[in-house]
Amino acid sequence: MIKQMIKNTLVLSALITSLYATSSDLIKQGEEVAVAGDCYACHTSGDGQQYGGGVSFPTPFGVVYSKNISPDKENGIGSYTYEEFSRAVRQGVSKRGNLYPAMPYDSFHLVTDDDTKALYAYFKSIPAVSQKNKDDEIFFPFNIRFGLKAWNLINLSSDTWKKDPTKSDAYNRGDYLTNSLGHCASCHTPRDLTMALDKSKHLEGNFIAGTMAPNISSKELIRQGWTQDSIIAILKHGYSTRGTILGHMTPITYHSLSNLNDKDLNAMAVYLLNSDKKVEEKALTFNKHNKKDPGFALYAGYCASCHGMNGQGIPNTAPAMAGNGTLNQEEPLNTIYTLLYGIKIQRYSQVNAFPAMPSYNFSDEELKDLVNYLQNTFTNLNKTYTKEEIIEFKEKVISGAH
Ligand code: HEC
Ligand code: HEC
Ligand code: HEC
Repeated sequence: MIKQMIKNTLVLSALITSLYATSSDLIKQGEEVAVAGDCYACHTSGDGQQYGGGVSFPTPFGVVYSKNISPDKENGIGSYTYEEFSRAVRQGVSKRGNLYPAMPYDSFHLVTDDDTKALYAYFKSIPAVSQKNKDDEIFFPFNIRFGLKAWNLINLSSDTWKKDPTKSDAYNRGDYLTNSLGHCASCHTPRDLTMALDKSKHLEGNFIAGTMAPNISSKELIRQGWTQDSIIAILKHGYSTRGTILGHMTPITYHSLSNLNDKDLNAMAVYLLNSDKKVEEKALTFNKHNKKDPGFALYAGYCASCHGMNGQGIPNTAPAMAGNGTLNQEEPLNTIYTLLYGIKIQRYSQVNAFPAMPSYNFSDEELKDLVNYLQNTFTNLNKTYTKEEIIEFKEKVISGAH
């Protein structure tokens, strides 16, 4: 009899351990899903509590604040069932009503059931914080959440993510991470007049708040000379042979991408380049200096000390200009942004940071000479802008940045 009891206790404790292991595995998975979905950066404000919400998102209709998503019953998601949580994250309908698409459910609707269940388990397990939600500052008539229902009906596809059986596992994993949790489209895909993602121009670039989230379609990345290695490097460390991350992309790198494992980063690079085979690294473009060009004196005088005389860059000081992705973009918006505002010291991960780049007060004439010189010397774009075109780009950057 005692033997039997001991046996029962052993069976029971093994059962409890295995139950516990499953739920802690699920929570662990949920934590990884939360990192890939960058929930933290959008739901934790600088002076606020962890996952207490309160980050402001300007929209054409006014300011929306992210919400408390800790398991606090009164202010957070403590009283949400799994179905209610899943509807908020994937369909954009919470207990408050229809959510504004500042919450990227136009990408998150592709998140799988398994990952959503894990997310729910994780958010139920973190510490509850009592931070109160801020009232949104949306103008009439858009302050009626009901109106968003119509938006959802028009714009939200109910498709969940589907595997493409003609592609490799790595490509499929990269597709899933990029287009669901990574919500890369929310910045890199242009929007139409109703503010919905323009699916016909997937990842082909979008101008947001003064900077261009550039075209990252495979065709464009390959034209610019990106490889799996340089894409993995820029996502993981914030810098690569093709330059660094700056602007609104920086928090994504810091909180999300730099914490993904190498297999997932490789999968994203395979998907972005649409190639399982390693793309060969091309030599960085340096077309020799033309010392008679007025841009040469500007480059040599103001830039070469950090970016290298031949644009080769200096390790841990400044990225290469030769073959640089920013210079290589279809329009010089981010180059002009960088020259007007400089780049303050920014961290890309717990271990990686670059020093600051100063801002400059160039005349429009100098800006034109310098931008043309950079493009003609360090890329194969073969574009020369007039002063009027440069002024137009500059005004676009300034009005977007304010
Ligand atoms: C790009 C920013 C952004 C990201 C990334 C983001 N959220 Fe949100 N989220 C928001 C904003 C803004 C709102 C508030 C929208 C509103 O009130 O209309 C919101 C609302 C929510 C709500 C509804 C809360 C409620 O009670 O109404 C939930 C749940 C939620 N987010 C969960 C998540 C989870 C889980 C993740 C990560 C997988 C995530 N969010 C990632 C911006 C974001
Ligand atoms: C004091 C050193 C310094 C000087 C001088 C300097 N830069 Fe930079 N520059 C940097 C650093 C550091 C970065 C990257 C910062 C980051 O992304 O965190 C950078 C980034 C850039 C970028 C964005 C490309 C990328 O990959 O991030 C461009 C374009 C650029 N510099 C052009 C110039 C030009 C043109 C000049 C001269 C007018 C110049 N820089 C002068 C340090 C410098
Ligand atoms: C919050 C907006 C935002 C989101 C979300 C975002 N990006 Fe970006 N991204 C930008 C901006 C702005 C730039 C341009 C500045 C720069 O070059 O760093 C950029 C630059 C890049 C670059 C460098 C291109 C170059 O030429 O230097 C790559 C690669 C990239 N993003 C990939 C991604 C991927 C993959 C995702 C999804 C995991 C993503 N981005 C999500 C805003 C965003």
